Amino acid sequence: MLLLQKIKSMEIIRSTEEIKRISQSLQRQNKSIGFVPTMGALHEGHLTLVRRSVKENTVTIVSIFVNPIQFNNPEDLEKYPQQQEQDFALLKQENVDYVFVPDEAEMYPEGKPSEQYDFGLLDKVLEGAFRPGHFNGVAIVVRRLFDIVQPQKAYFGEKDFQQLKIIQSLVKQLNMPVSIIPVPIVRETDGLAMSSRNLRLTPEHRKTASLIYETLQESTQLFGKKTIAEIKEFVVSAINTNPLFEVEYFEIVNADTLETIRHHNDAENCLGAIAVFAGKIRLIDNICYTNK
Ligand code: PAJ
Repeated sequence: MLLLQKIKSMEIIRSTEEIKRISQSLQRQNKSIGFVPTMGALHEGHLTLVRRSVKENTVTIVSIFVNPIQFNNPEDLEKYPQQQEQDFALLKQENVDYVFVPDEAEMYPEGKPSEQYDFGLLDKVLEGAFRPGHFNGVAIVVRRLFDIVQPQKAYFGEKDFQQLKIIQSLVKQLNMPVSIIPVPIVRETDGLAMSSRNLRLTPEHRKTASLIYETLQESTQLFGKKTIAEIKEFVVSAINTNPLFEVEYFEIVNADTLETIRHHNDAENCLGAIAVFAGKIRLIDNICYTNK
């Protein structure tokens, strides 16, 4: 007997109206939609989110949109890597059903949006303190994408821990019927957190960038033994000692509220969050601290 294996095809959709129609039709058929929003230049970090979605939902939609309103640095936007054909090939291999690839006019037909969200402390600290307007831009695009795609589940990486907190707050504030699924950080074999920006590192920076994660890991051994101030001093000086790197910030915060902690017992879940300049390229990473 001939066994027919079902080969799924992947559709590339560029129109907002069309993906809305597809989503509505899937809802009518009671098919669960998993959604992975991205800015492309896909790597194993993104693909790990995609695999979770494919496993947990009937249909998976991935979006690729380099969202201009979340870039506070024009050079970062201009140089953001774009490799759509390669991205499509990777997503096809993962059995993704639809890739939504809007252009700016599709996403923002009325021009630059002006809505403002209030996230309390969540968007004022860490990345928010150094990238004004960034999280408001993320919130605007993610809200629009959720409205268009209407997913039951949406997948976000803990690599961008603060972004994950912002999205959880957004969904709660607006009462959106979507579950936000956090996915742990995926790292290169040397420990560097995967990022589309790693492609822009010089070979010299790339070779030594594992210093960031190594230092964060070492700092977990000090948690509860040294003061928070001493741990911060350790991390900043261990990285800054290498002339190729410069720490922009390193903070230890309550992982639930993002409030800075003074003592290791101040919070049940603590997070160390860092931003480092490797030449012109800004890298972020984070690590959990556990009270033993
Ligand atoms: P982007 O940087 O493309 O990331 C898309 C998703 O992949 C995010 O949820 C991010 O946290 C996750 N991700 C990236 N690198 C990861 C890694 N090493 N391990 C685990 N997850 C990783 O984040 C954005 O795009 C945008 O801000 C977006 C949410 C799409 C809104 O424009």
